[in-house]
Amino acid sequence: MKVFEMQSRSMVRIGDDKSSLRTRQLPLFCETYNQFFWRRPWLLAFQRRICMMVRHDLAAERRENPSPVTMTAKSHWSSKTKPSRVDPAQFTPSFAYRGSASHRQNLFCEGVPLDRIAGFAGTPAYVYSRASIEGAYRGLDRAFGSLPHQLCYAVKANSNLAVLRVLANLGSAFDVVSAGELDRLRRVGVSGKRIVFSGVGKTREEIREALCYPGGHARANGILLFNIESAGELEVLLSEAARRPAGTDARPLAAIRVNPGVLAGGHPHIATGTHEHKFGVNWQQARLLYLAHKDSRWLTWGGISAHLGSQIFSLTPYRQALRRLASYVRELAMEGIPITYVDIGGGLGIRYTREIPPVPSRYASALARIVRPLGCRLLIEPGRALVGPAGVLLTRVLYIKQNRGRTFVVVDAAMNDLIRPVLYSATHVITPVVRNHLSATKVTRVDVVGPVCESGDFLALNWPLPPVQPGDVLVVWTAGAYGFVQSSNYNARRRVPEVLVEGREFRIVRQRETYDDLVRGERL
Ligand SMILES: Cc1ncc(COP(=O)(O)O)c(C=O)c1O
Repeated sequence: MKVFEMQSRSMVRIGDDKSSLRTRQLPLFCETYNQFFWRRPWLLAFQRRICMMVRHDLAAERRENPSPVTMTAKSHWSSKTKPSRVDPAQFTPSFAYRGSASHRQNLFCEGVPLDRIAGFAGTPAYVYSRASIEGAYRGLDRAFGSLPHQLCYAVKANSNLAVLRVLANLGSAFDVVSAGELDRLRRVGVSGKRIVFSGVGKTREEIREALCYPGGHARANGILLFNIESAGELEVLLSEAARRPAGTDARPLAAIRVNPGVLAGGHPHIATGTHEHKFGVNWQQARLLYLAHKDSRWLTWGGISAHLGSQIFSLTPYRQALRRLASYVRELAMEGIPITYVDIGGGLGIRYTREIPPVPSRYASALARIVRPLGCRLLIEPGRALVGPAGVLLTRVLYIKQNRGRTFVVVDAAMNDLIRPVLYSATHVITPVVRNHLSATKVTRVDVVGPVCESGDFLALNWPLPPVQPGDVLVVWTAGAYGFVQSSNYNARRRVPEVLVEGREFRIVRQRETYDDLVRGERL
């Protein structure tokens, strides 16, 4: 009986969690299994060893690829989890509490206390650390070592001009998905040689804009690479390229974005790499397009691209996708289509709470091992990994109210300022900017909610927070990516300022909108 229990437990844990299997087939299976092993103890020991190995493998896989955090609207934080375990100050570069642990500690971004910024810029406000962005860029770039490569920062993650300038000064190239992002790069003075254009729905006008962007490859205007996502888009690119003024000799360089059929990404909305997603074209279609326009007068095939999704923690999907890309590149070469650029997109995950992202060196060496033998240049399009940890959102407590045992901390930031919690069930750690000796001990669970008229307007639910008062400033961590860029004017709220910290200094790199800004362009 004991053996039987042991067997059934291990079967359930290791194997399938389908309830039908457990309730109907498993007892019968285990009984037979049990009798078999009862008579052969040496086999039992062997089987135990196999179980341990499988468990060990599963644990390693889980560590590398934690299951996406699925949170209900009820709770962002399991009541069993000790809140003190996650302290982003421990793992977020350039942000640290300073002061006496027994008395009062103030959160600093580089050399600037965040309550000073809140006082100066008002709240809500996004704050970014320049040193953190630089550190993340350099760390990732260095990890690729001697492999011919180029980081192309995904502008969509955070398109503030000052942030783009920081990255441009580091030598970054850029991945854009709209003429608006292209325009931002033009304002920063980025050359077309450093721009890749992705995006599933580029309009004719956007393609035209990109074709005449200053300083593309081969001393002509244009950009480095168009990542084509459909046959229709390719037609538009060809027709626009054909209309370029006489004397424009350099043909635009293009890649096909293939949909690699690989599932990856931390939330269904940010997984992009399988056939049910709208992105890219399948391998067969891609092949037809490459061959059909092999000798085109109007474009040159220069690359192949794929993007798997976002918040990816396992290297396995990258390896799978890149191996397929690599064999595809070889096939194209045999067809007489040499590929210069292999673009693997972005997606590298970051730590918001307890996730364990791959270290840059492991990520880079996994990619390099596959790309190096091809002799191609690898393009990587990181967004979140470069700017996510570099930013926080400051918000001030307005009111505290109770309702049937639930405590609501009403703050001045709302879902229109940071939509990730409700859109992706994302967890952003929230802590007070100033903490004292009570902070660790007197924690209670509260809902941190905003002023917008939606029940989905929360920054965190059931969140462990030390005692706070109206007027206190809270920090919403790891908000540098997909934060401000996804903000809106919902409820006629003004979009918040953005502040860049550089050492002991800080400056407002985007003003808070005015009510005039909100109605500009409208007519009575
Ligand atoms: C084509 C492409 N490249 C790069 C990225 C950046 O992804 P991440 O911010 O996860 O690195 C995205 C994000 O959606 C994307 O669509």
